[in-house]
Amino acid sequence: MNPADYKDLNTSPRILLGPGPSMVHPRVLRAMAQPLVGHLDPEFLKVMNETQELLRYVFQTQNPLTIPISGTGSAGMEAALCNFIEPGDKALIGVNGYFGERMVEIAGRYGAQVDRLDRPWGAVFAPDEIEDALRDKGYKLAAFVHAETSTGALQPHVAEIAAACHRHGALLVLDTVTSLGGVPLKIDEWDVDIAYSGSQKCLSCPPGLAPITVGARARDLLRSRKTKVANWYLDLSLVEKYWGSERTYHHTAPITMNYALREGLRIVAEEGLEARFARHRANAELLWAGLEELDLPPFVPLAHRNVTLTTCQLAPGMDDPTFRRRLLDEYNIEISGGFGPLKGKIFRIGLMGFSSRRENVALLLTAMRQLMLR
Ligand SMILES: Cc1ncc(COP(=O)(O)O)c(C=O)c1O
Repeated sequence: MNPADYKDLNTSPRILLGPGPSMVHPRVLRAMAQPLVGHLDPEFLKVMNETQELLRYVFQTQNPLTIPISGTGSAGMEAALCNFIEPGDKALIGVNGYFGERMVEIAGRYGAQVDRLDRPWGAVFAPDEIEDALRDKGYKLAAFVHAETSTGALQPHVAEIAAACHRHGALLVLDTVTSLGGVPLKIDEWDVDIAYSGSQKCLSCPPGLAPITVGARARDLLRSRKTKVANWYLDLSLVEKYWGSERTYHHTAPITMNYALREGLRIVAEEGLEARFARHRANAELLWAGLEELDLPPFVPLAHRNVTLTTCQLAPGMDDPTFRRRLLDEYNIEISGGFGPLKGKIFRIGLMGFSSRRENVALLLTAMRQLMLR
């Protein structure tokens, strides 16, 4: 090993228009350069309190238990399931894309008896079919993905789904990894019991934290568990003591990532949720119009098309990996392809947080047009 072989890191300033991570806001990068303080330093405790307040604003909730989990979105997913499942509990999980599959996998590992509610990739669920699936089954929990990043579909009618879950005694878990901070999401008004997200999508931060919010019904259930949560690291009854008034050490918080999240959330609050949702929609509509002009038709019907993650079909004969590689090499732009049943059939284009900019849409469409002409 010769240390001289290891050069300074000099990564390219990519334009990240894939399914995530999206581009980090320059203010977030500046916040990350602040000196490290200890995880129980009064200055950090203030950062924690402010982050929780800002998270409640972004989730549109008053839930006291609203915190960033240390870990990526999948840690949020795991926390949202492992804390509320005891071995033998029944769970209903909606699978209309890749991340529903992942929830099935995780819930099963914690001993849940999982029933799947399957819909084709790109489709969404109707509240009635969910209600039918819930009837007389004794599910403790039902879980759905709000914005399926693998397909570009946005699940509508969340309030109706939550009401159906509660009529049948189940908690509603909602994956909001690709929706939080980009599309309307009203945790309290819709009565969602547990929602989790990730820092690297519409919040314009690097990957590494998973905001989660837990409502009163779910919190009561956590307190009345008969068995210990099978995952020590993600056990919310322990983690909440660090984020609550006790400030009991659980694990060393990733301080710098929390600086980042606080700044990302501050930027959301300054812009205002409504203005932010309108910006995401306007830029997505611009993209959709441009893709239609390029004869790259949308994959998801307008009625449930997600504005933060667009999917379009490929043109006949288009070589997906080569096209995307050229976008990256020649234009510094990252977009993504489909996977699972959509491999080789679609592009996935993210316009999230700091990446959702008019100039990025114009640049991408111009680059795609030039590559298609050659
Ligand atoms: C909808 C959804 N859920 C969960 C995850 C998992 O998040 P992570 O990759 O940050 O662990 C992702 C990541 O893209 C996602 O899009």
